[in-house]
Amino acid sequence: MRRITTVFVLFVTILLAHSCRNDQLTVSRLDATLESVMDKASPENTYTSFIMPESGDYAALIQDPRNPITEEKVTLGRFLFFETGLGLDAIKSSGEQTFSCASCHIPERGFMPGRVQGIADGGIGFGDLGDGRTRHHIYEENEMDVQGARPLSLLNAAYLTNTSWAGAFGAGGLNEGTEHLWGVTNAATEVNHLGYAGLESQNIEGLHLHRMVINKELMDELGYTALFDQAFSDAPSSERYSPLYASFAISAYLRTLLPNEAPFQRWLKGDRTAMSDQEKEGAILFFTKAGCVNCHRTAGLNANDVYAIGVKDLFETGESFNADPDDKRLLGRGGFTGKQEDMYKFRVPQLYNLKTSPFYFHGSSKRSLREVVEYFNDGVPENDIVPTENISPLFHPLNMDEDEIDALTKFLEHSLYDEDVTRYAPPYILSGNCFPNNDVLSQVQMGCE
Ligand code: HEC
Ligand code: HEC
Repeated sequence: MRRITTVFVLFVTILLAHSCRNDQLTVSRLDATLESVMDKASPENTYTSFIMPESGDYAALIQDPRNPITEEKVTLGRFLFFETGLGLDAIKSSGEQTFSCASCHIPERGFMPGRVQGIADGGIGFGDLGDGRTRHHIYEENEMDVQGARPLSLLNAAYLTNTSWAGAFGAGGLNEGTEHLWGVTNAATEVNHLGYAGLESQNIEGLHLHRMVINKELMDELGYTALFDQAFSDAPSSERYSPLYASFAISAYLRTLLPNEAPFQRWLKGDRTAMSDQEKEGAILFFTKAGCVNCHRTAGLNANDVYAIGVKDLFETGESFNADPDDKRLLGRGGFTGKQEDMYKFRVPQLYNLKTSPFYFHGSSKRSLREVVEYFNDGVPENDIVPTENISPLFHPLNMDEDEIDALTKFLEHSLYDEDVTRYAPPYILSGNCFPNNDVLSQVQMGCE
């Protein structure tokens, strides 16, 4: 009996040892393949170029040399971004101080709104992290602060020289040679003449567009004057409490929003157990057969280029407010440059933490990441208005089978998901208000006093 047991134990041990070794072999084969396909996809010929810096390592962050990142700016920007006290330019007095930048860019929703469209002034309610926000009945649809495209995530915005779906903001990069258009085809782009990068430029305009006020009196009242003084002691005090300096602070903060603890980032930094075999197979597809990296090419998997992939618009969802089929925004970069060749081309968005706001593409036409992957796999434009000659030749049928579609979807859903991006939100704001929303219904739903 004892002999039999011993033999059995020995047998099981050998079996286990064998299967273990096999597992390790599979793992290391997948790891090695992923490293090598990423080396090839990297502009620097090394997969390590896809590693994001630590958010507190300011020297390593991409920045506008005219707005160097400092701790003081990041601290101030983090407050201002969530501060509902700024919303004093509301259309109706009952809307005053009820919304913030984060009403449309909610951290738990990957800095997106958690619904087809963002709503700030004119909205009411929060529901479950933004999904229950809707029109306040005293506002007409055309009085609401809603935009004709889905809000972009602000994760990985550091990698952008040119912001917005049209890449219209920022003096350099994609916008070199478009100087004659600034302020002409799109009034807001006048701001590019100041010469700053996309973030610094767009956020000056963003404060204005989203009905927010920055001045000495209000900063005194809300408690931000000292933080402006610490962050911008070099600026003349007559200019310091202004949308320009508020934008410097907010932009410095936004540049720190890196999902650098996502499993894929941990894998890149050496933790080979951070991703499952299926996710590694999905990642290999991303960098090879599926061709995703041809467009999503920075470490943040966004890019400062525009392409047409023929997706539908917000007004077609039937769930949006004040979305106009004639909105110039629907023309993408063409709405800014007026050039035929730019029509319906949109700037490549980042791909981290997308699963928490399941409304994909600029017109929120897809509701799951699998649907998005299937759309790229089919390679057939869904919007007939987009001229075939403008559709990118990189958008074509990919011939992935169901297992490959599953693997790529899993890579997007899990490997690219940093579960703790709320580390970037402040614990409170200086006004003491409720945030990111502060209307009475949101206060109740969010459990604010
Ligand atoms: C009403 C909802 C709403 C509010 C409030 C809002 N945003 Fe946005 N945000 C959007 C939309 C929509 C876009 C995409 C617009 C476009 O490109 O046409 C966007 C895009 C951006 C971008 C560009 C990102 C990229 O990848 O190019 C930045 C930066 C930004 N917002 C910052 C802010 C800041 C800062 C505030 C507060 C001052 C703010 N947003 C408030 C809806 C909103
Ligand atoms: C031709 C360039 C190109 C290729 C190739 C490409 N993308 Fe994109 N991707 C874009 C552009 C441009 C958008 C935004 C389109 C829009 O909304 O109009 C986008 C949007 C997305 C979105 C939605 C993001 C959001 O914020 O809603 C996801 C997810 C995505 N791509 C994943 C992928 C995957 C996975 C692949 C590979 C199968 C891929 N992309 C291949 C250019 C590309």
